[in-house]
Amino acid sequence: MENIFDTLEGEESIFKDKKPLDHRFLPENLPHRNEQITQIAKYWIEALNNVTPSDITLYGKTGTGKTAAANFAREQLIEAASNKNVFIRVEYIRCTDYTTEYQVIAQLCQKLGRDVPNRGWTKGEVINTFRDIFRKNVHGKKLILIVILDEIDILLEKDGDGILYTLTRTENVSILSISNYVDFKKFIKPRVMSSLRDKEIVFPPYVADQLADILSERAELSFKPNSLDDDVIPLCSAMAAKEEGDARYALDLLTTAGEIADEEKSDVIYGDYVRKAKDRIEHNKVTDIIITLPTQQQRVLEAILKLTQNNEEITSGKLYDTYKEVSKGDSVTYRRIFDFINELEMLGIISTNTISRGRGKGRTNIITLQCDTKLLETTLFSI
Ligand SMILES: Nc1ncnc2c1ncn2[C@@H]1O[C@H](COP(=O)(O)OP(=O)(O)O)[C@@H](O)[C@H]1O
Ligand SMILES: [Mg+2]
Repeated sequence: MENIFDTLEGEESIFKDKKPLDHRFLPENLPHRNEQITQIAKYWIEALNNVTPSDITLYGKTGTGKTAAANFAREQLIEAASNKNVFIRVEYIRCTDYTTEYQVIAQLCQKLGRDVPNRGWTKGEVINTFRDIFRKNVHGKKLILIVILDEIDILLEKDGDGILYTLTRTENVSILSISNYVDFKKFIKPRVMSSLRDKEIVFPPYVADQLADILSERAELSFKPNSLDDDVIPLCSAMAAKEEGDARYALDLLTTAGEIADEEKSDVIYGDYVRKAKDRIEHNKVTDIIITLPTQQQRVLEAILKLTQNNEEITSGKLYDTYKEVSKGDSVTYRRIFDFINELEMLGIISTNTISRGRGKGRTNIITLQCDTKLLETTLFSI
């Protein structure tokens, strides 16, 4: 029998290089983000004059290019600084990997050449070591450190705002925070807020034409010539524009459509593969989210499913009644249900819509399921 890897390696593929389709790939240019990158650069240019730049916050929904733009600006600044007599470091921290103040500061120390263990020291010891870097500079020059805190909301929610307190109170440190949620500042207490006088830069969702430009550049790098049928990029772009202008989703659609073409042993990606890709991605996404939800939240979803299947208008009151039936007595309070509804909405599984019942009757929140009922049913009852 032939070796399994040889067999697989010998198979034809429509991809010439999959790397440019990876989420972490940083392209050489970022179409339609010039304005945002220029704004970052206008603040960061201070560093080239030996001045610590203002703190910056990047806002925008998932897939609007925040991480890419920050890293792009980072590389540009490092390049510019290398020709000048300045000592600048720009360090990127993904707060889903380093979820506490200790971990972030320890990581920064390590990146700047200090030996700090990942655990075991007190927070005070780590912070002192960090601050020491700015005092005793081996290069004899003043170090300016720009810290990119990506997905900062995760860190703030989990560990509080101590990280911002520490960084804003360390001289020569500038913070660029990135958040997917506009209201992440609710995690920051006033005394910290007052020292974080940040400049805000907004990343609006991409529209279909912009997504098409982004995809075309990536497709050229990734696929063999003439592998895309004419409607493939417009389709991916239109579908992703509907999904809140999410470039990551657009890239996922294109990649998955390419994989389907390989499976079908086709040397062209057709529009039909994009539609199949959409189902496949939706399937994986919804399933992944639902299986990791806490049990009571799954019961809430089950109640929403039941009401949807009965074609009922779902108010929170009605949802709570049905939820209590479904959970058979082992249930959470009515107030807690509102948190669940918010979380499910953030995950994109449901949407809520406030409607007015007419004069004097107040307003009601109506809940609508945003994923396929069949898929939800199969997932919920297979857990
Ligand atoms: N303007 C752009 N040009 C090229 N690729 C982009 C652009 N905007 C986003 N992308 C790509 O889309 C994906 C998601 O972007 P990302 O920066 O991670 O979004 P965010 O951080 O806002 O969630 C990444 O693979 C990124 O390279
Ligand atoms: Mg990001």
